[in-house]
Amino acid sequence: MTHGRHSSGSGTPERALIMKVHRRHDRRRGLGLIVISLSILNFLWVVNFYISSFSSSQEDLFELSPQLTHSLSFLNDSEDFGRLVDRLNFNFLLNTKPCDTSSDIFMLVFIHSAPEHYHNRQTIRQTWGLETNLVNDSFRVVFLVGEVQNQSVQLTLEEENKVNQDIIQGNFIDSYRNLSYKYVMGLKWVTYFCRQARYVLKADDDIYIDIFQLVRHIKVSFEVSHGEGLVVCFLIKKPYVKRSQRSKWRVSFAEYPGTYYPSYCSGWAVLMSPLMVYNLYLQSSRVPYFWVDDVYVTGTLVKILGVKHVDITTSMSVNKEYVISWLQNNDTSLPPPFGYPDLSPENIHALWTKTLLYYNKSGTS
Ligand SMILES: *[C@@H]1O[C@H](CO)[C@@H](O)[C@H](O)[C@H]1NC(C)=O
Ligand SMILES: *[C@@H]1O[C@H](CO)[C@@H](O)[C@H](O)[C@H]1NC(C)=O
Ligand SMILES: *[C@@H]1O[C@H](CO)[C@@H](O)[C@H](O)[C@H]1NC(C)=O
Ligand SMILES: *[C@@H]1O[C@H](CO)[C@@H](O)[C@H](O)[C@H]1NC(C)=O
Ligand SMILES: *[C@@H]1O[C@H](CO)[C@@H](O)[C@H](O)[C@H]1NC(C)=O
Ligand SMILES: *[C@@H]1O[C@H](CO)[C@@H](O)[C@H](O)[C@H]1NC(C)=O
Repeated sequence: MTHGRHSSGSGTPERALIMKVHRRHDRRRGLGLIVISLSILNFLWVVNFYISSFSSSQEDLFELSPQLTHSLSFLNDSEDFGRLVDRLNFNFLLNTKPCDTSSDIFMLVFIHSAPEHYHNRQTIRQTWGLETNLVNDSFRVVFLVGEVQNQSVQLTLEEENKVNQDIIQGNFIDSYRNLSYKYVMGLKWVTYFCRQARYVLKADDDIYIDIFQLVRHIKVSFEVSHGEGLVVCFLIKKPYVKRSQRSKWRVSFAEYPGTYYPSYCSGWAVLMSPLMVYNLYLQSSRVPYFWVDDVYVTGTLVKILGVKHVDITTSMSVNKEYVISWLQNNDTSLPPPFGYPDLSPENIHALWTKTLLYYNKSGTS
């Protein structure tokens, strides 16, 4: 917690006092003693003012210039490819390179999936993740999975990848406590194999996205700043560390001693600039592993880099009731930009069908 967000704010009262002193100083030119003593006070105030404004501007400076590097020289480090956070024997068990076919990719989407989630992946491939959805803005979708010990699941996964060429598998067991490895594998994969993407979206395999609306929103809102470190998401502010025995996100004091996490992004949809992706990836080999992936990557690492999240909670927030009522309603109004997490494949299909109807596009699924 090195980056104080609170500017001292002590400049203003001093400034008012100094101005008062100046005015008095001008009016009562004759009264030498008063002038001298006021001058001394003035001098002290001025010194104090400069000290405090200097320190607060230092703070502002620190906030305004994130610790981002534009250098990718670490890719020349022959050990980097085999490293994943603290693991030194990393490799891709399955790797595909769908970005190689285009020098201009508008958006790369990497989706956290589990080896067994064939239906979720297939649903996304047939609906919002269909690469032909965007005519003039090419986008690519890849699914990230870990290692699975069941050989028949592995074989099925390999068959699925032969057909779709969109699965990235790392050699770490696919499990909750290895989720941060999955996230960093996504950052690593983009850094090595899809650097030309202009935007990178991290998503989960159980959500729906109105991809047309998302792209339009990106172009209207973020186009100017895409060369910077950009993290756009549904921000969770001042989150409590969960200690309840019943929570699947329960964290012990040894794992994380603090009461709060730094603000972090809900994991189901996070938009980043490529510069942000490289820098997060670079930091990940310097910061100890912590298994709650959203906290580790979009809380801790983002904070270390000094980048401020762009919170879209108020502008693009989704709510389950709204999504359901939009789905059930007979008139076609603008689709919700995102569907809530934990959607069934059936609901994703239904939302997509209605979305195509709204945009007057013929169904492909
Ligand atoms: C790797 O090193 C070569 C030779 O020094 C240099 O030309 C290249 O730009 C480097 N690559 C990156 C990504 O920095
Ligand atoms: C794609 O680009 C072409 C040529 O610039 C344009 O005519 C067309 O309307 C664009 N299509 C869409 C869906 O934006
Ligand atoms: C492996 O996965 C298959 C398909 O999901 C399942 O039928 C089988 O029981 C699993 N085997 C083991 C040993 O868990
Ligand atoms: C994470 O993956 C590594 C490498 O496969 C494995 O040794 C470890 O047991 C996994 N951790 C958990 C908690 O599953
Ligand atoms: C939508 O239309 C169907 C049949 O046309 C009707 O049964 C249903 O009640 C309508 N739903 C709503 C929410 O208006
Ligand atoms: C779809 O077509 C209808 C009728 O032609 C039109 O009124 C509507 O604006 C179109 N919707 C979109 C999103 O283009």
